[in-house]
Amino acid sequence: MKRRTIKRNGRQIKRHNNLLGLFSLTMLIAVIAFGASQLFTKNPEAAKEVVMSSEIYPGLNLKTTTQEADTYTLFVSQPYTNNKDIDEPIEELIEQQRNSFIREVKEVERTLVENDFSAHLNIQTATTKLVDKIYSLELKSYQIAGGANGATRIQPFVLDLNESKRLATADILKLDDDSVSDIQELIHEGIQKDPEVSEYIFEDLFQDAMENPDNWKISMSLDSVSFHFNQGQIAAGAAGAIKVEIAMEEMIYYLNPVFAEKIGLEIPEEPVTLDPEGKYIALTFDDGPHATVTPRILETLSQHGVTATFYMLGSQVEYYPSLAKQVLDEGHEIGDHTLSHKDLTRLAQSQVKEEIQNSSSNILEATGSLPKSLRPPYGAFNDSVGEIARELDLPVIMWSVDSLDWKNRDAKAINHEIMTTVHPGAIVLMHDIHATTADALPQLLTSLKNEGYEFLTVTQLLEFGELEGIGPHRGIGQ
Ligand code: NI
Repeated sequence: MKRRTIKRNGRQIKRHNNLLGLFSLTMLIAVIAFGASQLFTKNPEAAKEVVMSSEIYPGLNLKTTTQEADTYTLFVSQPYTNNKDIDEPIEELIEQQRNSFIREVKEVERTLVENDFSAHLNIQTATTKLVDKIYSLELKSYQIAGGANGATRIQPFVLDLNESKRLATADILKLDDDSVSDIQELIHEGIQKDPEVSEYIFEDLFQDAMENPDNWKISMSLDSVSFHFNQGQIAAGAAGAIKVEIAMEEMIYYLNPVFAEKIGLEIPEEPVTLDPEGKYIALTFDDGPHATVTPRILETLSQHGVTATFYMLGSQVEYYPSLAKQVLDEGHEIGDHTLSHKDLTRLAQSQVKEEIQNSSSNILEATGSLPKSLRPPYGAFNDSVGEIARELDLPVIMWSVDSLDWKNRDAKAINHEIMTTVHPGAIVLMHDIHATTADALPQLLTSLKNEGYEFLTVTQLLEFGELEGIGPHRGIGQ
């Protein structure tokens, strides 16, 4: 920024020049000048406001305000979307900083005048486009009023203009307990790696700042996710404002899968390292997807960081394709439970084939993936069904623990049944069509975890079983 000095009222005043020259020529310019209220100081120049709509950031405008008084200058460039749910909180935040700056200036006004010093507030917006209409913004505010050192604050936002909202932490990241503690660890490691920051850190302040993910200040690009802390928030002021940047390679496993897909990032399969002594089981949910129960079950599984396998009916998938897709997107596995839940042992081979294939193709259409295994309805299975399953390359999967949730519509009874029959290597049968099963799940997952159980998809459990001699689960009849 070019500075020149002019004389006014007999004093030297530093003035910023060529503000508009900062902005790219590709931007369209609309100028709205308005008379600012005569706020706090004696002779503030009217604030000038400029709104620029951008060609490279569709939907996102930049509103620039400049103001100059005898004792201060002010430059604010703020994102502006014409959506009040997004704009108002940003506006409020800026207003607060502006008011506290002007209050501070007022307090030290005499000193400023005596020392011929102009206080300064500068708020800039740095924008990163993730994909069209999804932007990561960093609002960076620097102010110097009285003291020798200025203070820097950073407020990041991630905006999804397709949905007209500012994304919360839970929209961006997975927030089950395991993911949260992994992310906290990554940030802590990031801080330790930077000696200029680590020597100033106050561990207790850091823990406080990390405790509630809703308060995390996140910005990102497609290559990294950054966590921000204000000057003095977690470290001595000398460390300045702190930005911990974590490579996307490491963070990708903790992105909310729905968000990852929106910004075009593919979450790689997490390498599963299995402990030969581990107590692994597979939870399975049959007969869905169901409009209300399946979402509840997904929510609970996500809160506990547990993956499961859903044996879906092709007829249900046809009605609720987006639920099927959500199941897969959230890291679960989908199996084929036939099109319409008929007893396959009573059908001709051609009909059996149709029942399985039509269901598989509905699942493929809804999710982009074929089911990994077959569970025949009622567990009804014979050589003829087995032959067709082999032909279609679908392992036939039964269960070794029946929750009896189809019979006992009671959360306590379901929990009791499973907890008294579960064993390492178990495949547990449940149904995502009964509200009582969804009711039972939070306590069930807690109890199973307390007993040291870990959760795999059926395919993972089969691979583990083949390695460790657990099973077989193929072709077990009732
Ligand atoms: Ni069934």
